[in-house]
Amino acid sequence: MGRKILVTGGAGFIGSHVTEELLGRGYEVAVLDNLSGGGADQVPAGARLYELDITESVESAFEEFSPDDVIHLAAQVSVAVSMQDPEMDARINVLGSLNIIGAARRHGVRRIVYASSAACYGVQDRDVLSEEMRCVPASFYGASKYAVEHCLLSAREDSGLEWAALRFANVYGPRQDPHGEAGVVAIFARLLLDGGQPKIFGGGELKRDYIFVEDVARAVALMLEVELDGCEDPVFNCSTALGTTTNQIYELLKTACSSGVDALAGPWRPGDVQSLILNNTRLKRLLDWAPRVPLEEGIGRTAEYFRDAT
Ligand SMILES: NC(=O)c1ccc[n+]([C@@H]2O[C@H](COP(=O)([O-])OP(=O)(O)OC[C@H]3O[C@@H](n4cnc5c(N)ncnc54)[C@H](O)[C@@H]3O)[C@@H](O)[C@H]2O)c1
Repeated sequence: MGRKILVTGGAGFIGSHVTEELLGRGYEVAVLDNLSGGGADQVPAGARLYELDITESVESAFEEFSPDDVIHLAAQVSVAVSMQDPEMDARINVLGSLNIIGAARRHGVRRIVYASSAACYGVQDRDVLSEEMRCVPASFYGASKYAVEHCLLSAREDSGLEWAALRFANVYGPRQDPHGEAGVVAIFARLLLDGGQPKIFGGGELKRDYIFVEDVARAVALMLEVELDGCEDPVFNCSTALGTTTNQIYELLKTACSSGVDALAGPWRPGDVQSLILNNTRLKRLLDWAPRVPLEEGIGRTAEYFRDAT
């Protein structure tokens, strides 16, 4: 058997793909998830599920499974919810993460790979964002994601626990929640396939950095295999570094879903930044990795998934 990896949030969108990728690479994988967002049916066969909450005791999973490494993806994932209830967001995203970090330290885990976010950056005066820029999170969600990067830094100083954080751009692909607040590809695909009419806010010219979930899963898995010695600040953007407008996404989806429906125009939403593109040079260099799935292919595969899921 290979090394043992515990994936928190492994029943969710990104986590289920990460679990699949790890199983394919010969790792032994267990998922820790409270199924609040994900589903047991999304946990790939071959991975054991611990139905636990990261804000409560997680000892049983660490004792029984005894992971070598942890991939920590479980989170409250909604920016809007974080703004409505910042304490709840912090309880799950900060205290829950500290709970996982504490268990990892007690049980001799070598490394934690943490799912951070582009939301750490907040509003910046540049279009393409790099890791060395000062983060000014504009949401409680962004602030909690950023706080945990610092908690991991402290844990390493104190106990030698290795860590790396990947700041994901806009991840899309099969199994993304089409009823969520974010994830336009999934939301539009579901609507178009069901004969609905998506709404595009603010003219549709906002640019985002869309990365296919399998490219993210591969980067996460590779993060377990690299040397992090000498990496003072192991924070890496995980992105394509390409900007695509919502209008461009919509056109690709219309083709992929064989739809002729035009989108409705919605108002400009306060807080929406014009452009959010992440430089990925650091991650490419570290992992010898690059995104492989072009947008058109990724959108086609996502539409196919939602067509079959009806
Ligand atoms: N999807 C994106 O574009 C994106 C972008 C940046 C960062 N991220 C981060 O990536 C990670 C995965 O996000 P996702 O898009 O797959 O979301 P998701 O909602 O599909 O997955 C999150 C998983 O965490 C689980 N979970 C939530 N609260 C929990 C708790 N208290 N205890 C145990 N499990 C809990 C949910 O059941 C779900 O399976 C999150 O940390 C998110 O913040 C995602």
